[in-house]
Amino acid sequence: MTAGTLRVDTYLDPDDLRDALRADVAAGLTATPKDLPPKWFYDDRGSELFDEITRLPEYYPTRRERSILVQHADAIVAVSGADTLVELGSGTSEKTRILLDAFRRAESLRTFAPFDVSEATLREAARQVAVEYPGIDVHAVVGDFERHLEHIPADGHRMVAFLGGTIGNFNPSSRAAFLRTLASTLRPGETLLLGTDLVKDADRLVRAYDDRAGVTAAFNKNVLQVMNRELGANFDPDDFAHVARWNADDEWIEMRLEARREVSVSVSELDLDVRFETGEQIRTEISSKFRRERLAAELADAGFALEEWWTDPDGDFALSLSRRDTTEPTPARHR
Ligand code: SAH
Ligand code: TRP
Repeated sequence: MTAGTLRVDTYLDPDDLRDALRADVAAGLTATPKDLPPKWFYDDRGSELFDEITRLPEYYPTRRERSILVQHADAIVAVSGADTLVELGSGTSEKTRILLDAFRRAESLRTFAPFDVSEATLREAARQVAVEYPGIDVHAVVGDFERHLEHIPADGHRMVAFLGGTIGNFNPSSRAAFLRTLASTLRPGETLLLGTDLVKDADRLVRAYDDRAGVTAAFNKNVLQVMNRELGANFDPDDFAHVARWNADDEWIEMRLEARREVSVSVSELDLDVRFETGEQIRTEISSKFRRERLAAELADAGFALEEWWTDPDGDFALSLSRRDTTEPTPARHR
């Protein structure tokens, strides 16, 4: 077997990231209600904490998605016809090895391209995959999938995997924009393998985002430490409580940080003083839960045809395979 190569392209340098963080924090902490975009959870510590979340007894999505992959990896590889696997928000690419093993059995993969905003985690994951799968080229991309999708490798017949239910972390309009951009980046016939958590009993959903051991709380609060370290803020994590609630109208979990008392914070690098009333919240993340019909419609709007839909026996989680249409996407609809 020939030794594969390892290459890492970076579209996010530290200055860039810091500017983006400054802009998001300046806007988010002065907005009403206050909010912060979720990608700032994933510094090195945040990536570690997320990895811990995936092993929590309450956090079923990872185990369910893994079982679907184990069951259907050979079919996924065959139906996709791909020789290039791109993975968005790849993190440690742990579950992805199930796909890589299926590609190895089929002897059909040339390139694996993991793409993530969290550089250290991505570099380590890419290095390990290159060692474990010497027959393929590993082409890692450090980037923001809301800004740098055009930089995914262009060669080969691609399947883009977007696992973990991360697509649920977009708000609906960002999700539509993301899917359109992705469709226009792909060539007709190329595929999207999408992991989506499904609507279910509210108690189970809330427990998955508010575990007994407090790991998700620590993950949520980690964004305060990111602001302390990167922007010279003086948040005391103990001043805030982790809140996860099910929004039944929008069918998403909302994560918030709630001030336990009146809190004044200064963000020195932004020359910004921020006050919180007791009970005031920062919205940090949503995690949308899906139903097949709605997702199929959204995919169709963006230019993808849903071909396969696989779930675990309990119907908790779905993996879908969609193909980039041969026609151009429909013009944006007014809703
Ligand atoms: N795919 C893995 C990890 C999911 S966690 C799994 O299924 O377990 C979400 C991942 O997306 C993290 O690794 C995080 O760093 C990455 N991520 C979040 N926002 C991103 C963005 N805007 N651009 C690129 N990667 C992002
Ligand atoms: N993509 C994951 C999800 O929505 C991310 C996640 C899990 C998360 N637990 C979290 C994000 C807690 C913020 C806080 O399931």
